[in-house]
Amino acid sequence: MNNKLSNLAEVTRKDFPMFINNEAIYLDHAATSQKPKIVIETLENYYKNQNANVHRGAHSLSMKATELFENARKITAKFIGASDSKEIIFTRNATEAINLVALTWGNQNLTKDDEVLLSVMEHHSNLVPWQLISNRTGCKLRYININESGELDFKNFLEQINDRTKIVSLVHISNTLGCCNPIEEIAKVCKKYNSLFLLDACQSLAHQKIDVKKLDIDFLAGSAHKLCGPTGIGFLWGREEILEKMPPFLGGGEMIEDVFLDKSTWADIPHKFEAGTPAIGEAIAMGSALNYLDDIGLDRIKGWELDLTKYLFECLKTINRINILGPDPNIKISRGALATFHVDGISSDDVSTLINESNIYIRSGHHCCQPLHRLYQIKSTARASLSFTSTMSEINTFTNELKSVINFLIKNS
Ligand code: ALA
Repeated sequence: MNNKLSNLAEVTRKDFPMFINNEAIYLDHAATSQKPKIVIETLENYYKNQNANVHRGAHSLSMKATELFENARKITAKFIGASDSKEIIFTRNATEAINLVALTWGNQNLTKDDEVLLSVMEHHSNLVPWQLISNRTGCKLRYININESGELDFKNFLEQINDRTKIVSLVHISNTLGCCNPIEEIAKVCKKYNSLFLLDACQSLAHQKIDVKKLDIDFLAGSAHKLCGPTGIGFLWGREEILEKMPPFLGGGEMIEDVFLDKSTWADIPHKFEAGTPAIGEAIAMGSALNYLDDIGLDRIKGWELDLTKYLFECLKTINRINILGPDPNIKISRGALATFHVDGISSDDVSTLINESNIYIRSGHHCCQPLHRLYQIKSTARASLSFTSTMSEINTFTNELKSVINFLIKNS
């Protein structure tokens, strides 16, 4: 193993108060990331010294808060390679970002003759908003299949996309299968059919460099809390020319130009989509989290996490009766840093509850992917998810404890 890479956890763990003097093993980074000191301090400093409403006051505190808030928008735009910060809309999270597109663009553009193309591996946040808009407009939802290695069936994608497809909305890295979808290839096909392409980048943004211009997509949704940032803030990126034509999402203050008793006109983008007082401190702290990730370097993160994921798979594969979902990182190196598994005859919830006794935190359940679990005919899986702060030694302890837990459950079943 490359020593420089193996030092990444060593050099970054000290930045995280949660890991200092704490023996617990946190393997649930895909559910939410831990927060570095700099992000916590940015949030604290905002509320202690900079707190004021944005875009409203002529006083200097409000002007400073506005400057910091708009600077966070610029950092976010730069992080994903957007052309202009006005293409970044702050939302509560990625779920709200997808709802924004489905309920505004969808309501304006979809009819009963149109189709929306999703996949069976989607998180509920990229399924339910489209179901809601389908109920409203009558548009048809279609779903791309999963192939035998637990990846998107590209051939099936080519069979399903057609002239009626108005938008393709897909996850980048599946939170359950861990597979990484071929976004550039999908985007090329979308262009051929004149379809828009929305990317749910929740599980990829903290793990690999993303450039929306290079990917040639139309929308991207992200959540700060999976990016070492706070909860309550996320963003939607959209191409300027598309956002300009979309109607507002929620109505209220901030998103208007003029209000009369019988009608209103809208502010320019991005403010047209940001009704009410936003999560100001959280947006500023998200900016600080993105700078933190950029300083470490997404390529370094990707390299270290690939080594960890390969090792995690190697260790898990030594366990009897275990079934791991999704592609093997030794075969598919472009993959999420997680392993979702189930053990024949054993409840995944029992596994996560018992391993918690050893202060090892993993997630079990359907991971907000019920249709995917139904496809595999399993109710629940267990998932260990990693970050650049994870270590080989954590993986060793986890697998040893997992073996004991499984042996115990088999003996007592
Ligand atoms: N979607 C998040 C997960 O996969 C919460 O755990």
